[in-house]
Amino acid sequence: MERREYRTVEEAGCDLAGLISELARTAVRDRGRFTMALAGGNTPRPLYRNLGLPPWREKIPWDQCHLFWGDERWLPADDPAGNYAMVRQTLLNSIRIPEQNIHRMVTEYPSPAAGAKAYEEILGQNFPDIGPGEYPALDLILLGMGNDGHVASLFPGTEALAARGWVVAVQYPLADPPVARLTMTLPLINQARCVLFLVAGEKKKEVLAAIDRDPAAAARSYPAARVRPRGRLIRAVADS
Ligand code: 6PG
Repeated sequence: MERREYRTVEEAGCDLAGLISELARTAVRDRGRFTMALAGGNTPRPLYRNLGLPPWREKIPWDQCHLFWGDERWLPADDPAGNYAMVRQTLLNSIRIPEQNIHRMVTEYPSPAAGAKAYEEILGQNFPDIGPGEYPALDLILLGMGNDGHVASLFPGTEALAARGWVVAVQYPLADPPVARLTMTLPLINQARCVLFLVAGEKKKEVLAAIDRDPAAAARSYPAARVRPRGRLIRAVADS
């Protein structure tokens, strides 16, 4: 695991935009495109804003970047509490990226389960060579973490933690806001070429310390402890 430490999320956002630009350019050079899943929550906002500012706005090959979402709240697409709406406001309005490269989790379906299935189809169209029982490897999955150790919308003690598909619907009454969610599953996240965790604050540092002390015990309490990607794992931690 690689560790990066920062004083503030703004400092982290500035530095990590450079890292993402590097990952994007390498992936485009080697494989012709860069596939990235974005996180919701507050912590990544400064990072998204930085990606949409010079020099990264110009340096990142947006035409070859494909953006996905690691999770989404079951809200209308334009609801400001939705993860897509947050990224639209902090990043997408500032860059020139083809609309067909933006693969949001669509919530205009009769049920979250139907939305999860539809997103698996979107992933399948973008990773056409992946057979049944296999998982696509995204170049980068960006994750935050809750104080309870949840990642994406994989909450402690939920059935979604055992899901073997690519995307699953989740009902979790303690979620904030308390609506259903769609989330990428653990096996899909763990297939990534790189997972970048971005967390801030004392409480989250304590959760990370507990994971480091006893990873096996932590895996029973904290979904974050079960993120062990085949590729790089980078943990970026800010004091506040
Ligand atoms: C979401 C998420 C979620 C988030 C954590 C941390 O939709 O809420 O993607 O997993 O990353 O809850 O959120 P904060 O950064 O706001 O603490």
